[in-house]
Amino acid sequence: MPEKAENLQADGLVREIHERHFGAGPKMFLAPGRVNLIGEHTDYAGGFVMPAAIDFGTLAAVSPRQDGQIEVWSENFAEGVTYAADALPNRGKRHWSDYPLGVLWALREAGVDVPPFSLTLQGDVPVGAGLSSSASVEVATAFALLDVAGASMARVEIAKLCQRAENVYADSSCGIMDQFIACHGAEDHALLLDCRSLEFRLAPIPRHVKLVIANTMVRHSVAGGEYGTRRAEVEEGTAILRRHRPEIALLRDATPEDLEEWGSEMPDNVLRRCRHIITENLRTAAAADALEAGNLKKLGDLMAAAHMSYRDDFEASCVEADTMVDLAQRLPGLIGARLTGGGFGGCTVNLVEEEQAAEFTARLGQDYRRATGIEPEIYDCRASAGAHAVENSRR
Ligand code: GLA
Repeated sequence: MPEKAENLQADGLVREIHERHFGAGPKMFLAPGRVNLIGEHTDYAGGFVMPAAIDFGTLAAVSPRQDGQIEVWSENFAEGVTYAADALPNRGKRHWSDYPLGVLWALREAGVDVPPFSLTLQGDVPVGAGLSSSASVEVATAFALLDVAGASMARVEIAKLCQRAENVYADSSCGIMDQFIACHGAEDHALLLDCRSLEFRLAPIPRHVKLVIANTMVRHSVAGGEYGTRRAEVEEGTAILRRHRPEIALLRDATPEDLEEWGSEMPDNVLRRCRHIITENLRTAAAADALEAGNLKKLGDLMAAAHMSYRDDFEASCVEADTMVDLAQRLPGLIGARLTGGGFGGCTVNLVEEEQAAEFTARLGQDYRRATGIEPEIYDCRASAGAHAVENSRR
């Protein structure tokens, strides 16, 4: 099972690797992965999401260099890339380095003069699990490169810049959620984000509620085709509604009544995708209210409804994720469970009563193995802080 970000940070491993590799003492930055409690595929429709940052993350160690080169070493891939600072490729190559280099590209586009540097990356966010390993790499890199450039930028701008790096440089059409929560997460809190205005509020997760993340081991990828297909379907439906109500700039502006009135003009798949987004926005706003009011029963019911909508209307689930959610729903202590993240595999998020969490985890693992023949990974997570510098003195 992967180690938690705190361990990576405490044992000084990444700093040592950087020193060994580059012969220079680095400054270090940590950015978390995330789990989304509710609000799926709503971000690029200008709607609501409610993620939490988790205690898996990426550490970035950075030091300046004098030889005009840029070198990025990934400890996870045991591989490095080197470029002359003035000969950076201007687009990604479908390689892990697209994410850090994309951030450098976006910083330069934004007018930040980043001097030549050495960068070491190491992360413990499971890759392909729908927990935003890429956003954690981007945001950790942005913090590191801003520091080496002696520049500063508001967190919201860093989130937007990292999204741009992923959209344009890495050619992956994600929304703003993952980068935003990597920048703005808070310990023991979920964050309700309005993805259009980027206004947000933090809602405390009660102490007796555990965040249990269950990895189906079916790989998820935003760069894969299905995510883009869903986005295109949502845009197709939005355009149809806009013909009738020009003020519908994004699907966020549409109501269930709009869909009732004009949905018959849409192909069935498009209608169902739109129905997911429109109802998901309502569920997500209600879920934030429920969490704040301590109404966990309501929160759990909303998560269950969100999973069904994601499965049936959005068709972004898979048999394994449905099985993981069904099995969780039969276990004592469960508050709410659903497939989290971009879909088509990855992890389920489970809110579980603390007293029953150990037994829940053990039984869920056993039941899933029995039902699917797949050995899952189950992570006991804690809602964590957004990106920050890591003390250089810690060993
Ligand atoms: C991925 C994307 C996010 C968001 C989710 C689905 O994680 O990176 O922007 O669209 O999928 O909610």
